[in-house]
Parts: sequence; C-alpha cells; structure tokens
Amino acid sequence: MTRCDQTPAWAALQAAFDAGANRFDLRTAFGADAQRFERFSQSAPHVFADLSKNLLDADTEALLMDLARQCSVQEHRDAMFAGDTVNNTENRAVMHWLLRNPPLAPVNSAQAAIKNLAPELSQVHATLDAMLAYAQTVRDDTSITDVVNIGIGGSDLGPQMAVLALEAFATTGKRFHFVSNVDGHELDATLKRLKPASTLFLIASKTFTTIETMTNAHSAKAWFTAQGGTDTARHFAALTTNVAAANAFGISTTFGFWDWVGGRYSVWSAIGLPLAIAIGPQGFREFLAGAHAMDEHFRTAPLETNLPVRLGLLDVWYRNFHHFSSRSIAPYHSAMKRWPAYLQQLEMESNGKQVDADGNALPYATSPVLWGEPGTNGQHAFFQMLHQGTDVVPVEFVAVKKARHLLEGHQTLLLANVLAQAQALMIGKADAGGHRNFPGNRPSTFLLLDELTPTSLGALIALQEHRVFVSGSIWGINSFDQWGVELGKVLAKDVQARLSSGDVTGLDGSTAGLLARL
Ligand code: F6P
Repeated sequence: MTRCDQTPAWAALQAAFDAGANRFDLRTAFGADAQRFERFSQSAPHVFADLSKNLLDADTEALLMDLARQCSVQEHRDAMFAGDTVNNTENRAVMHWLLRNPPLAPVNSAQAAIKNLAPELSQVHATLDAMLAYAQTVRDDTSITDVVNIGIGGSDLGPQMAVLALEAFATTGKRFHFVSNVDGHELDATLKRLKPASTLFLIASKTFTTIETMTNAHSAKAWFTAQGGTDTARHFAALTTNVAAANAFGISTTFGFWDWVGGRYSVWSAIGLPLAIAIGPQGFREFLAGAHAMDEHFRTAPLETNLPVRLGLLDVWYRNFHHFSSRSIAPYHSAMKRWPAYLQQLEMESNGKQVDADGNALPYATSPVLWGEPGTNGQHAFFQMLHQGTDVVPVEFVAVKKARHLLEGHQTLLLANVLAQAQALMIGKADAGGHRNFPGNRPSTFLLLDELTPTSLGALIALQEHRVFVSGSIWGINSFDQWGVELGKVLAKDVQARLSSGDVTGLDGSTAGLLARL
C-alpha cells in the first residue's frame, strides 16, 4: 500500500493548503455560500452532523476523498468486514462489529459478505442470549442491590461511560460501581459501602492477567470471604476471553468473548454486562442495533456521504496539514461525563503509533490528544483557552435535542449555550482590541442526537470507532494493537521488587532517588 504522504492526493492537499487553504476563513466561507450548512451537514443513522464550521471547502474535501481512495480505505474497511487479519501484529481479525450484527437472514444480499462468518456469528448470538438471560436474572434478583465491575481500560471505560450515559434508562434500582485503579483507596471506599450477600462482582478482563484487575479481584474475593460471604458462584462472574484463567481463579460463572474483539472495542461483548443489567436485555439489543445501523452506513454509504469517512479525513486534514495537535470533546449532556475519557482510549490507544503496520517509522503525525469535559462545565474552566489561547483546538460538540427531565428552562439554556459556544468560536469579536479580542475562525464539529437513548448512544460510539479506523487507515498504522503499554508493565514488576528489597543498582538517578525516599 502506498504511504499516504507519497500519494498524489497528499501532494495536492499540501499544495492547496499552501496556496490558500491555510488562510481559510469560516466567516468568509459562510458569507460566500448560503448553502454551506446544507453542503457540510448530513444525517447518518441516529446522528445528525454539522461539519460546516470546519476549516474546509468542497475542493479540500474532494482532495481528501481522493486521499481515501489512493490509500485504499474502502478496501481496508472491506477487509475488516470480511474478517481478514487486519490486526497484523497480533495476527487477529477485527470483528467487534460482528457483535452487533443481527443473526443472518437466510437471504440477505446486503450481508452476503459476512456469510463465511456464520459460525462466529452464531457463537456471538449464543453468548449474547446467555449473557442477556443472566442479566435478566440479576435484574430480577432483588437481594442483589450492588453490582461492582472490576476492570480497567476497555474493560472499564466502555461499560462505565455507557451505564452513566444511559442512567435514565436504568430500571433496576441497583447501584453500579466501577473499580479500575490498583490504588487500594478506590476498592476500599467501594467495599465500605457493600455487604457480601447483596453484592455481585463482575471481574471484567479480556486477558484475565491485567495486574490491576487481578489485584482488585483477589482483594474483593478475600473481603467477600472475610465478611462471611458464601456462594461465590452467585456473587462473582467473569467476563473474559480467558475462561480457563477465570475458572482457576475460582469463578464458575463466566461469559466469554473472542480475541478478535479489541479491549477498547469490547463494550458490545460480555464486557457490556453491567450495561445489560442496568438497561435490560431489550435496551442492550437496541444499543447493538444502533451501532449496527452505523456499521451498515460505514460499510455501504458512498465516501462523500459517509460520516465516519468524512470525520476521519477531517482528522487527517487537521493533524497533518493544519498541524493541530489536539481535539477537545464537549458533550452537552451531564450524563456523558465519561465520554471524553472513553474517546481518549479509543483514539489514543488505537492511533497513538509512530510506525506503520509493518513497523517502519512514520515521518508524519498520528493521533491527536483528546481531552474534554461536559458542557457547560468546560466553559467555566478551559474554554478561555479555546477562544483566546495561542493554539487552535478543534472542538467536537455533542448536543441532545430532547431532555428526559421536566425542569423548566434548563434544556433551552443548555442548547443555547452549546450553540453559542460553537458560534463564538467561529465568529469571534474583533471590534474591541486587546483582552476583549476574540480571533474567531476556530473550528468545531456539531453532533446532534434527537435523544440520548441506547440506540443513539450505540450509533454514536460506532461512529467514533469507524472514524478512528479511517484516520488510522490513512496513516497506514495498525489501530488495533497497543504495544506502547508493555514497557511500563515490565518496569513496574522490576520496581515493585525493588521497593521491597531497596536495591537501586543499575537504576537511573531519578528513579533511584525517588525509590530511596519511598
Ligand atoms: O492498557 C492496555 C490494555 O490491554 C487495554 O488495551 C485494555 O483495554 C486494558 O489493558 C485491559 O485489559 P484486560 O481487559 O485484558 O484486563
């Protein structure tokens, strides 16, 4: 595959950038084109997207589409949907999308491409049915009042984000706790609020070897026994691809998944069990259906009206031509408080790579830094920098049209704020100099949901997964491995032993000095 920066489209984009696209002005663009909003906004399943406040015109977007074609994004996408070994460094297929695929209809030509994955799909549905039946049992069991998910990374962020986001749909009356950090303060504070007889622990770990999760799981089990807990089979369940390790740990209730589901793409699998307990089997199926609708959009829509493709290409335009190094995530819904954290792992663990899929060093930038907070809180914290700082940071807003509360005035005020922030970033204010000057022309994307529901959240997450796929595909990297987390793990083992022995031989001066103090 041709490296993206060696394609004619890349050269054309650079030329267009240098020839004027670098001075693109949103206010001029809107002034010159009354149709700009229509041209740069579109519907995708359950999500409406306004891209018109971004620094691009139709010519730039056409060149970006050329780039996608010259970098074989469609072929790469089709390879993922065919179950090919897209994750080459781990020799695995990438099929999280299969987890939300409905059972194959006998004659369904649109799905013909996945017919050869029928065995995997039937395993997916057998496991899903079993997991949802279990979720229903837990929901019906009024003696269980607290569900504790012990997991980290993808085994924490996805279910935690979704359980919080959909708390208006949680119909169980149970409390949900998420323990991820190896810092004992977190587990300790959680356990203090629990009783063994009314607690269900879900040990969520794809590998069942992650040190944080195993340490917390052992401590939880020790607490359970010490507090007089009985019937481990009823109070502990494991969500893992490593069922043997879960059994060896002493957990007999297990829900499996497969190595072709990456950790940060696993909320659709057994890792989603906390969400299934919270919103119920029907709600979880709607969550999957929303994502599947987005999969079908990504798989079949022409590039020009393919929302994940447009967003992924915009990411490349900003990262590699404008050299913007971060993106701020601003969900205007208080329940989406973990949305920025969830997207951080999705984007930065997937695309934070400096070599291509074959291990060759890349001369261009890849993943931006993602960060953010729900609005309107962010406005009173870091929006100052977004409006008047020296760096341009594209902002990605999420707004939800309908609220699920009846408090008067709040929703209008919230929507007024999200619109006003996007507007202010763009229009600026030049009529007062110095401190009161707003440069404006600051780009933003506006994602709009009618309602925040299991279906729309599913679609929104799948949209993000696929846009990360698109930019990763342009950059030629393997978005599905995470070797960068290994070194710290290895060194932590070494340092852990040294903290007991006090041996600082061979350490760098700083680590040795700190270790001695500790
Ligand atoms: O931090 C690396 C990582 O492997 C993530 O990719 C993953 O989501 C997390 O650790 C947890 O892994 P596991 O589910 O295997 O415990």
